[in-house]
Amino acid sequence: MYSSGTGARVVVDVGLGNVVLVDVGLGNVVLVDVGLGDVVLVDVVLVAEAASTTTTSGASSTLAVPQLAANSAATMSAGMRGASPRDTFKRYLPERSISRQQGYREDVNGRFDDHPFIQACRGLPHDRVPVWFMRQAGRSLPEYRAIRGTGTILDAIADPDLSTEITLQPVRRYGVDAAILYSDIVVPAHAVGFGLTVTPGVGPEVENPFTSEADLERLRPLDPEADTPYVLETVRQLVAELDVPLIGFAGAPFTVASYLVEGRPSRDHVATKSLMFSNEPLWHALCDRLADMAIASLRSQIDNGASAIQLFDSWAGALSPAQYRRYVYPHSAKVMAGVADTGVPRIHFGISTGELLPLMGEVGADVVGVDWRVPLSSARERVAPGLSLQGNLDPTVAFAGAEVACDAARAVLADNAGHPGHIFNLGHGVMPTTDPDVLAEVVKTVHEEGTVNLR
Ligand code: CP3
Repeated sequence: MYSSGTGARVVVDVGLGNVVLVDVGLGNVVLVDVGLGDVVLVDVVLVAEAASTTTTSGASSTLAVPQLAANSAATMSAGMRGASPRDTFKRYLPERSISRQQGYREDVNGRFDDHPFIQACRGLPHDRVPVWFMRQAGRSLPEYRAIRGTGTILDAIADPDLSTEITLQPVRRYGVDAAILYSDIVVPAHAVGFGLTVTPGVGPEVENPFTSEADLERLRPLDPEADTPYVLETVRQLVAELDVPLIGFAGAPFTVASYLVEGRPSRDHVATKSLMFSNEPLWHALCDRLADMAIASLRSQIDNGASAIQLFDSWAGALSPAQYRRYVYPHSAKVMAGVADTGVPRIHFGISTGELLPLMGEVGADVVGVDWRVPLSSARERVAPGLSLQGNLDPTVAFAGAEVACDAARAVLADNAGHPGHIFNLGHGVMPTTDPDVLAEVVKTVHEEGTVNLR
């Protein structure tokens, strides 16, 4: 449900079964997507005058109110599959770009643009709080365990039919608002032959960890079509199948480097940090290669139909802001810049990153992931205005049962206070022993009780 806030915004019925929201405080005309691939310029003076005749309260005015719920639903489904192609928007765009601060941004990818998940990534109005879970596919689902097979996850990822099915399982079960590709952050390094595996119950392991300049040779550039054709086939199958956006992803240079340098999952990242402190040129050379790999991988996923991407820098919280700025920022910024022209929303995630949130936004994210340690209301003060947030239910509350978990979900929603730039998620991935029925209740609660202010 939309709920009105205090901003000067009117709801306009533009016909064709579509309702649009127009901010009247911005200038003379605004760009409005009326669905069906069309864009119109609305003279807001006229709209405001029309609205003033039917004003119900303060600066927030509504036209065609009774049709709002039905019509916004119609807009959503009409826009589900690729309305608003890039060229249409280009033709009508004014010279200056439409900034997020104004509440509108250039809409370029034409994929699920009207879906609440994409709208929330962009901080635009939408009709329900979108929700998905990191690691929503995987061992917590009995249907996953039933089909996963006995090989490593890298074997499962190399099988597009299996990976497609695994990706779809949580979408069917939970009715989440996005699918995330079933793959892993170490797939590109594995595909170029760096020499690693993913051990069940442990994580990525490297037989000969990265230690010297000679090891750079083991990280040749990624050619996604030749090196990871199975990933792209999975993306294509999913895009053909899904009625929600598909999130593609890559590991950020720091987090992938930490596996290559440590050789196995590490708590303190001692080897990684000593490499960065003791041989800074080699560290930057390593991260530069990993950044190029991430860009190639992300672009190939987007080219094949992913509607958004997430850059996982799960372990960046091991660094101070000064360390992050010097050793990580340039490389993650390169990745974000490397996909910027595609126009798909870019989510940037890490855990224990409370102190890094401003920087993680600044590298070029549209959405900053927040773990459960920082309330969304504080996170919002830490990132630049206009950025959206994703999070941030503590994944362990699921172990206390549905009632406690749903109350905790309500607390997250309350803390966000209806801000449109919010994608509900956990603060980290679903844990393997989580009861899926609890997560199903959380999704229901978010969908039924979450509100989106028009502000
Ligand atoms: O979110 C999703 O559901 C999408 C799929 C996905 C996986 N890994 C599947 C997976 C994604 C986005 C990842 C990213 C990933 N992989 C990260 C960043 C996200 C995070 O969790 O912080 C990291 C650090 C990895 C490295 C990795 N791969 C670890 C730590 C593990 C767990 C090891 C274990 O068995 O406990 C993996 C394996 C892995 N990746 C599994 C899944 C479903 C379990 C594999 C299995 O079923 O054998």
